Amino acid sequence: MRDILPPDSARWRRFQSVFAGVVESAGYGEIMPPLMEDLGVFQRIGDATDVVTKEMYDFDDKGGRHVALRPEQTASVCRAYAQHRPATPWKVFYAGPNFRYEKPQRGRYRQFDQVGIEVLGADDPYLDVEVISLGWEFYEKLGLERVQLLLNSLGEPEDRARYVDALEIYFRANLDGLTEQSRITLDKNPLRVLDSKREFDAELIAYAPRIAEFYSPDAAAHFDAVQQGLDDLAIPYTIDTKLVRGLDYYRHTTFEFVGLTLDSAQNALGGGGRYDGLVESLGGPPTPGIGFALGLDRTLLACDDEGVFAAPNTDVDVFVVDSTGGRQALRITAELRNAGLVCDRAFENRSMKSQMKAADRSGAAVAIIIGSNELDAGTVVVRPLRGAVDVNKQREVPRRDLISAVTKAVLLAVKEATA
Ligand code: HAM
Repeated sequence: MRDILPPDSARWRRFQSVFAGVVESAGYGEIMPPLMEDLGVFQRIGDATDVVTKEMYDFDDKGGRHVALRPEQTASVCRAYAQHRPATPWKVFYAGPNFRYEKPQRGRYRQFDQVGIEVLGADDPYLDVEVISLGWEFYEKLGLERVQLLLNSLGEPEDRARYVDALEIYFRANLDGLTEQSRITLDKNPLRVLDSKREFDAELIAYAPRIAEFYSPDAAAHFDAVQQGLDDLAIPYTIDTKLVRGLDYYRHTTFEFVGLTLDSAQNALGGGGRYDGLVESLGGPPTPGIGFALGLDRTLLACDDEGVFAAPNTDVDVFVVDSTGGRQALRITAELRNAGLVCDRAFENRSMKSQMKAADRSGAAVAIIIGSNELDAGTVVVRPLRGAVDVNKQREVPRRDLISAVTKAVLLAVKEATA
């Protein structure tokens, strides 16, 4: 688990706020589920998934309850829906950390942040399109261009069940063509064999039965409408019949956003789909649901690769240098901050030289300097810090003109810097 330090932390916060802007404009409200819940909530993700069997941080609390840190937030949102019974469609978004005991590597961590949305209570293919399009719009807002949308449908639960049977029969008849690892997967969940990226498995998987052959008329019509809707919005997608996703609760539409600049083992920037049975399994009424979650880490790696969405500039506007003991700096910084300027200062009554160095390091456009002469005269010195250092450019102004003089100097410095 990692510390996220400045200036990366500012980039994280902006990531979340850009996401909130996109989804709030479509009527989604923020939900903040707890970090920890009864283990049973997360077991609904699926007994056969790695997330549940291997990666959960679960333990008994002091009251003897078996709890777990959340490995994702979809199950919590469904639990909250079953508990609070809000009006439908219930459109919510979330942002925050999740915990999975995975092997840490680039783009894969034990504590990782996601942003996501979920909609409960509407079974409309155009809702699937809305959800997918909001993910797409968010990537566009970040400036990412090398993102591919993979799309599939797992059909109705009965379609999926018939497909799993057919897959099992096919793979069992051809065990020689499967690696040892895939044979173990086959015993647990034949669908996940399709996920194998091992070369030896590739040929057998290529000729495996296709899910599309098992769709009921309703499932086929739903999937057709989703594709038409995406076409209407000019969102490009690739049908990937092998896209089964790692969690068991999916049915009908599933999708994944792939970062084309990333290594294939860790290139899923985000994914989601329909999970029409999840609320019911958590004790609520039968309720359709759909959503996605996008991983912050991998998305930022993709941003680095494409040279977009850099860390925001966290430089201050003004740095106050006070050689009279520090009390003047206290008052001046308070005044400047009240006027809306971003402002810092030195402490511990350092030498003038050391304070000026700190001013340079802060990235400030302007320094306000106050020494005993200025204090006696009721003035301050305003010195531009950017560009060629030129002491002649500094001005001594009456203390009462502080705000207007500083504001002008900062604006001028910004203008010169962008010219
Ligand atoms: P997921 O595919 O498990 O889906 O995770 C979504 C995204 O979270 C991944 O594509 C990846 O970017 C990121 N992610 C997952 N695990 C890690 C990790 N260990 N380190 C860094 N990033 C990671 C879900 O979580 C579902 N709840 C999505 C969903 C919402 N389906 C319906 N609604």
